[in-house]
Amino acid sequence: MEEHGNAAMRLAPGRMVKDSCPFPFAVNHLNDLSDGYGDMRANNPVPRVVLPSGDPAYLITRYADAQAVLADRRFSANISRPEAARLREGPDGNLSNPFSDDRAWHIRWRRLMALGLNPRVVERAHGPIQEIAHELAAEMAAMTPPVDLLEAYATRLPVEAICVFLGIPPLDRAKIRRCVDALGTSSAADFEERAEAGREMWEYGASLIAYKRDEPGDDLVTSLIAAHDEEDGKLSEEELVLSFMALIVGNNISTAQQIGQGVFTLLCNPDQLAALRADRDLLPGAIEELLRVTPIYTGLPRFATEDIEVGGVLIPRNATVLVVRQSAHQDDTWIEAPEVCDIKRTNANRHLAFGYGHSFCIGAAFARLQLRCAFTALMDRFPALELAVPESEVGWSYRLMGSGATAIPVTW
Ligand code: HEM
Repeated sequence: MEEHGNAAMRLAPGRMVKDSCPFPFAVNHLNDLSDGYGDMRANNPVPRVVLPSGDPAYLITRYADAQAVLADRRFSANISRPEAARLREGPDGNLSNPFSDDRAWHIRWRRLMALGLNPRVVERAHGPIQEIAHELAAEMAAMTPPVDLLEAYATRLPVEAICVFLGIPPLDRAKIRRCVDALGTSSAADFEERAEAGREMWEYGASLIAYKRDEPGDDLVTSLIAAHDEEDGKLSEEELVLSFMALIVGNNISTAQQIGQGVFTLLCNPDQLAALRADRDLLPGAIEELLRVTPIYTGLPRFATEDIEVGGVLIPRNATVLVVRQSAHQDDTWIEAPEVCDIKRTNANRHLAFGYGHSFCIGAAFARLQLRCAFTALMDRFPALELAVPESEVGWSYRLMGSGATAIPVTW
């Protein structure tokens, strides 16, 4: 995966971002980024930037503007169109749901998907997912510290969990992980591998669906095949495979980063970790606060289908905007003392980690379940978990896609 740090302007605290500044910003430390976004929210909340592909885009940095954009259908979530800014540099274009412009289709699709992904159904997977988390924690405990928490634990759990949830046999899980890793890349150099992974996943999804038609199981693929709405409209073959791909891709990278970075944040805030260890009932609220404070660099892209004013700036038709959740999460118009991680807050769940509006993450309940199981197993297995390096030595990559900590070395 590529870095864009060298090409980008250094984002120093107090320095205004001028129009057409390269994005992602190059920063040495997360705090630089917070200060820089603070300046933007105050003075230049919708800056125009240039992406590594050379295409321009607008950043949305304030919370209220972020909500407004995500709730506005005139901002389309479909960025796989020729006019949209290229988030990837290869010839394969952007990855997004090509049907999301069709409102009726999107609503129906989400309703059918929700039948298998609502909190009540998802909760039934608690036992198996907790077991996986305990097993992975035990495997990590058998390693010699220091280990990279991302590699040893955080990236492994979502693959195992989604495979169990979807009904993917254990033997196929290595293939799924390889494909997901390739699909998460954005550089031109990875184009061939990415395209091949896309084809492989599509074929695999189609064959799994065919298999589950003959051999139904107690899993999400089986329930999606059976799902139908009042008009008895079922998901077509193509929609089923598309949904399969969306679930695998949607789950893996985000959940892995959120597990890893959530643990990182707790290790950097030992008082919060101690409070959580002392009272596990705080876990659901802690997860919301960690989703808020955990740096999620990747902006949510939207395409302006007409001229629209946001935060006093006219976004022209055909422009691309990136909703910067990391900045919105630090906006003190909705959250008091945003720089403080406080797992006892009661309003952290207004964060935008899962998006907002009509494209709100359809897997949020499953993501929350995985986070709950992941943190529980780690607290159970590692009473003295700590960072193996000073906090400032943990490396971060700032990319348009798949950004986050590069490694989180831990010891116990
Ligand atoms: C902590 C983990 C996760 C995070 C932070 C996350 C974040 C998001 C966000 C921000 C969106 C909205 C994108 C947009 O508005 O452009 C989204 C959509 C989506 N997510 Fe997640 N997600 C997570 C886990 C999952 C899981 C576990 C699944 C599947 C089981 C999933 C499947 C999806 C799908 C299918 C969509 C598209 C919804 C639509 O187009 O209507 N995500 N996710």
